[in-house]
Amino acid sequence: MAKLLEGKVAIVTGASRGIGRAVSVALAQEAATVVLAARSIEELQNTADMVSQAGGKSKIIITELTEERSIKNLVEVTGEKYGRLNILVNNAGVTHSAKLEETLTEDWEHCLRVNARAPFILCREALPLLKQTQAAHIINIASVVGVKGYPLQSAYTASKHALRGMTISLAEELRGSNVRVHVLCPGGVDTDMVDRVRPDIAKDELIKPEEIAELVLYLVTHRGNAVLDELRIRRATSAPWF
Ligand SMILES: NC(=O)c1ccc[n+]([C@@H]2O[C@H](COP(=O)([O-])OP(=O)(O)OC[C@H]3O[C@@H](n4cnc5c(N)ncnc54)[C@H](OP(=O)(O)O)[C@@H]3O)[C@@H](O)[C@H]2O)c1
Repeated sequence: MAKLLEGKVAIVTGASRGIGRAVSVALAQEAATVVLAARSIEELQNTADMVSQAGGKSKIIITELTEERSIKNLVEVTGEKYGRLNILVNNAGVTHSAKLEETLTEDWEHCLRVNARAPFILCREALPLLKQTQAAHIINIASVVGVKGYPLQSAYTASKHALRGMTISLAEELRGSNVRVHVLCPGGVDTDMVDRVRPDIAKDELIKPEEIAELVLYLVTHRGNAVLDELRIRRATSAPWF
C-alpha cells in the first residue's frame, strides 16, 4: 500500500534529539524525505539512521538558527536537491530559566532569536517553495507558555507568544491558499529540555515525544475541509484547559 507521504519533502528543525527526532521518524514512517536541521552532527546522524530504519530518506543540513545566512542555506540546499518542499516543522527551541530581574539582555535575545526570529526567517524563505506544491503545511512548535506564563521563564514565554502570534497572523495571510499553518502548544514533554527546566515533574507523567510526533503526522496527512489551527496538549495529570 502506498505510504501517505511518499514523494513529500519535509524540513524539521531541531532534528538532532527530542521532539524533532521523533517527528522526523514519524514522517519517515510514511515515506517522507526529511531534511534534518540542527548543529550536532553526531546526533543528527543518529536521527538519520532512525529515519532510514523507519523507511524514509533524509539529508542532514547543519544549521545554526541564530544566523540568517545559515537558515537561508537550509532552504536553498533543500530547493536545489529536491526542487520542492511540502512540510516545514519549526521545532528547534531553547529555554532560559531565571527571574526577569536576573535575565541578561543576551539571554532574552537568544531565546527570541532561536524561538521566534528563526521560524520567521524560515517561513519567509520557504514559502516560495511551499506555494509551488498542491498541499503544504507549516507546523510551529510553540508551548503551553505560548498561551500562558510561568514564573522564571519570561524570555522563553515571550518568545513562544511571539511564535504563536506570528503563526496566527500567517495563517490569516495564507487563508484559502495551498499552505496550511498550525501551531502546537504542548505542556511538559520527556526530553533533555524538560530535564533541565522542570526536573520537578515526574518522568512517567511527561508527554512522550512520539505522542507529539503522532499529532504532527495527523496534521500533515489529513487534508479535508476541516483544519486544526492550534493544538493545546497537556499532561494527563495537569489541569484541563490551560
Ligand atoms: N520538552 C518540553 O517540555 C517542551 C514543551 C513545550 C514545547 N517544547 C518545544 O518543543 C521544541 C523541541 O523541544 P525539545 O524538548 O525536543 O528540546 P531539546 O531536546 O532541547 O532539543 C532542542 C533542539 O533544538 C536545536 N537547537 C537549539 N538551538 C539551536 C540553534 N541555535 N541552531 C540550530 N538548532 C538549535 C537542538 O539541536 P542542536 O543542539 O544539535 O543544535 C535540538 O535539536 C522546542 O521549540 C521547545 O520549546 C518543548
